[in-house]
This record gives sequence, structure tokens and C-alpha cells, in this order.
Amino acid sequence: MHDSDHPVWPAADFSRVPRAVFTDRRVFDREQERIFQGPVWLFLGLACEIPDPGDFFTTYGGTTPLVVNRAEDGSIHAFVNRCAHRGSLVVRELRGNHRNHTCVYHRWCYDLEGNLIGVPYRRGAGDKGGLPADFDIGRHGLCKLEVATYKGAIFGSFDPDVEPLADYLGEELVGPLDRFFTKPVEVMGYMRQRIDANWKAYFENLNDGIHAGLLHQQAVMMGLWGNTPKGGIVLDKYGRHSHYFIEYLEDDGRATEFFGKKLSLADEAFIQWVDEWGDNISTDTMSIFPNVMFATVSNFLMTEQIRLTGPDEFELLSTVVGYVDDDEERRALRQRQVAWLGPAGYVALEDSESGVLIQRAARGQGKAYSSMGYGGTGSIDSVDHVLSEVGVRGFWRYYCYLMGYRPEGAPPLDPATWTAAERTR
Ligand code: FES
Ligand SMILES: [Fe+2]
Repeated sequence: MHDSDHPVWPAADFSRVPRAVFTDRRVFDREQERIFQGPVWLFLGLACEIPDPGDFFTTYGGTTPLVVNRAEDGSIHAFVNRCAHRGSLVVRELRGNHRNHTCVYHRWCYDLEGNLIGVPYRRGAGDKGGLPADFDIGRHGLCKLEVATYKGAIFGSFDPDVEPLADYLGEELVGPLDRFFTKPVEVMGYMRQRIDANWKAYFENLNDGIHAGLLHQQAVMMGLWGNTPKGGIVLDKYGRHSHYFIEYLEDDGRATEFFGKKLSLADEAFIQWVDEWGDNISTDTMSIFPNVMFATVSNFLMTEQIRLTGPDEFELLSTVVGYVDDDEERRALRQRQVAWLGPAGYVALEDSESGVLIQRAARGQGKAYSSMGYGGTGSIDSVDHVLSEVGVRGFWRYYCYLMGYRPEGAPPLDPATWTAAERTR
């Protein structure tokens, strides 16, 4: 698949993807360096998870273990969870509150900004052992990330020159994020799963408008949405992020013909929907390159964060939230709708399985390419319907830009130099 050690991309409009990028270890390693440690903002978690000084959680940026915590002055910091001494994981808990972080191996101690503040036996004992006299404690802190927040979301970047977060998100994503964070949120629970698929298959799924009425037959049958929902897919100016939304499906008699019988839900509670945003949008998802989706499906709100383990597997962390001022009734409504999402959700398990099926078929096929034409080929631009794969092609275009891959005939993959016409090509 490699031409000059790069995968071959046979279509200038990114409508064909070499399947080997789903399995090749070299591609995976390059992704760590060029994407996850590159000029992107990685979603790390929610500010409401660490409300007080010393609160922390551990997470991953790509494959790199991270600590995110709040310092005494209220500022949020993120650093690599790898001891500067001999590389042990420093913080082993998922979350908690620490005054500082001490590595269990030789007890090097770091403050809440990742600076090294304590080293045992620094001068040895009884004139023996100890570190060299010129050991500079100020040069042995944990590797720090850039950190920025938008509303209640925390993002981090390994690249000190990354563009400002608001520019990275673009006005196309800022609007829907404002909707998601209409009011302060709080965590209702977490769901975590390992999926035997390449992370990009999942990201394709997040950007794929066409599959909702096809893969999710159960959801259509139960009346969550229709086969041809009304909505749209809005891309940011580079097509790297996408905002997908569909309107509420009016109840036109949800009973479904099935094996010749009229079937309807005995309990319609979990397809009940309250238009709490006043816009008649019942499903609203934002996929933000390269590792997160924010979603509201009916009245269920969550983030889905992708963490990488290898080319054939990733971990998905779903964080379910509600608004802090939810009354009991609204909280119960959100809880009922968990039936749609998460590892066992009627909808989400089908999305996970779609990635697994792709992975099972991805091996040993030489020069094989996927083919995307729904909603038209050529230009990559927002559409006023959802029966389109344009968001998937936008994802691949930005992916290729960061990876240094360039299909023949494609314009130079440097967004800063793209003309308006090139941006939509
Ligand atoms: S590896 Fe952390 S103190 Fe030695
Ligand atoms: Fe889906």
C-alpha cells in the first residue's frame, strides 16, 4: 500500500481511502507523532470533574497517559503521567484529590502544575549515594501540555504553537457547543468500553450521516428518528470537525409493521423528548477532530472520548452529563434514555459493531480502497440534509494534511494557504 512509504490515496476528493491505514502499525505510530502530539486540541475531560484545588483525573492523549488537575489558584493543568526519573506512571488512580503527586517507585514528588518539588536522597546518606551536585530540580518536571477550556470542556495540546482553541473549533462548532453547555453541567456517570476496531473507523461513523436510518433499524422502528430525517451536516472551514443535527420526528403513529403485525412500544418513556433547547432538534452531535464527540440524543447528553491502544483496538470513554439545575423528572428522563447509548445502548452498540466488522475485514487485502459517494463527490462543504458522507471525506482530508499524505491531483494540503475554492474541493 505504500508508495515512497506512504499509503496511496487514489482520489483527489478523498472519496477513496486505502484500507491498510486501519491496520498498519507504521501508520498508527505516525498518527501518534503527527496528529495526537501535533497541532491539534485534544479533548481531555470536563471542568466540572475537577471543581476543587487538588482534584484530578487521569486520561490519555492518543496513547500517552495524562494527568489533568486543578491547582491551588483554580487553574487547570495537564501533564504526561510519566515520571521524569525512570518513567513510571506517577498517578495510578482514575480520579481523586491530591495535594501533590508522588511517584511510588522512588518517591519523586510533583506539584499540581507538574513541577518536581521533592527528591529523596538527593544528597545521599552518610556522604554516600545521592544525585550529582549540579542536578537541577527545575529541569526535571513532568512534560506539560498547553491547556485551554471552552465553556465546560477542557482541551490540551502537545504543540506550544497550536492555534487558539476558539479558532480551532471555528464558529461552526462553537455554536452547537454553546447549546450543549447552555447551563452548567455535572457528571451523571461514566461508561467505558474496549472496541476491537481502528479508531478511525469510529471517527468515520461519527461523521457519517447516511448510516443512521440504515444501520440503526431498531431506532427507526421504535420511532427515535425516520429513515430520511430532516437535518444537516455543518463542517468547519477545513472539514475536520462536523456538526450533525436532525429534527424531531413528529409522532405520525409510531406503530410499525413487522412480520405482518402492528407493533408499538409498550413503554414509550425512553423515546419521549422534551424540546429543552427550543429548536426542535432532537439529535445533535459534534465530532471534533481527532478524539471527541459531544452528543445530545433526545434528552441524553454525553461526551465520547477516544483513547488509543493500538491499530486494532481503542477505548471509548462515555461521560454522561445533566444540567446542575435538572429537577427529578428531567434527571429521570435522561437516565431512561441511557438505553440508546453506551456499550449496551440500542444505537451505540451498533456503531461499535460497525467498526468491529470493518476491522475483521481489513486484513490481508493488499490494495483495497473504500468508496464514498453519498451526497456527491468533489466538493467538501456543509449540506442541508444528512444523507451524505461529506463529513467523512472532510475528516480524511484533514487527516492526510497532518499525516503528510497527498492524493495525486489534490491541492497542497496546507489549510493556511487554501483558497476558498480549495477549501471546498
Ligand atoms: S520512577 Fe518515579 S521516582 Fe523513580
Ligand atoms: Fe450511529
